[in-house]
Amino acid sequence: MKVRKAVVPVAGLGTRFLPATKAIPKEMLTVVDRPIIQYIVEEIVASGIKEVVLVTASGKSAIENHFDYSFELEIFLSQKGKLDLLREVRHISDLIEVVSVRQKEPLGLGHAVKVTEPVVCNEPFVVVLGDDMVDAKVPCVFQMLKVFEEFQQSVVAVQKVPLDETHRYGIIEGEEVAEGVYKVQRLIEKPAPGTSTSDLAIIGRYVLRPEIYGCLNRTLPGVGGEIQLTDALDCLRKEQGLYAYEFKGNRYDAGDKMGYLQATVNYALTHPDLGRRFKEYLKKLVANLDE
Ligand code: G1P
Repeated sequence: MKVRKAVVPVAGLGTRFLPATKAIPKEMLTVVDRPIIQYIVEEIVASGIKEVVLVTASGKSAIENHFDYSFELEIFLSQKGKLDLLREVRHISDLIEVVSVRQKEPLGLGHAVKVTEPVVCNEPFVVVLGDDMVDAKVPCVFQMLKVFEEFQQSVVAVQKVPLDETHRYGIIEGEEVAEGVYKVQRLIEKPAPGTSTSDLAIIGRYVLRPEIYGCLNRTLPGVGGEIQLTDALDCLRKEQGLYAYEFKGNRYDAGDKMGYLQATVNYALTHPDLGRRFKEYLKKLVANLDE
């Protein structure tokens, strides 16, 4: 069954990035020349999906506005003859069809996905977290859709992380059934430090069959008192099976200050106009640091 919809939860408060995120959604922070959320949406579009369900909260309207027409700006740009900029601005609003759903209370990632049930209904969909950026030759969502097509069951993206960082992630254990594809046997959300033997961490990409909603409706609050998507995934695993896929690409946690800096340097280095000059600059900078 074709996957047509992407759910992007963006209701989080961005507390790891205060004070920058006091009045600006963390997803609207700029990496080089675009807000983080635009990279996320471009990955979704490049994977063949045009319908995006944003899970928002108060204070997040800048994200919806970014993907909407801006008549005043467009008229201004056209009167000034700034046609390149006009095309760029139009391109952003033409990228996707947006539906917004409000998450009225911050009850966790599982809850954020649960509130999309009335708009996603009975079809498979992807979930892409609004601050997990993945730079990859083949878009990460596209890679996962291929695994979904082949195995016909829900798929979570994973990557290996240092064992002393496993407590920050959902962790999976499983048996490798094809290159980079694991049949999941166990999932645990944010295991206590030192308790996990697996280093396969879930990162913010999921392809889910609609039965996840039944599981979410039965999921009780877990770690941190929140309704955890990982707990609902464990229910789905028991009911119909679940796969994990070690995607090819680099992931940046752009909601974290260090991850954001790394993303900025990476995307600046590969930027078509700035990349070469930025690399020269970095080389000089590093040479001076060594002195
Ligand atoms: C969420 C998920 C977690 C996953 C992580 C990836 O956690 O609950 O399983 O590993 O995203 O970024 P959060 O970072 O929202 O606490």
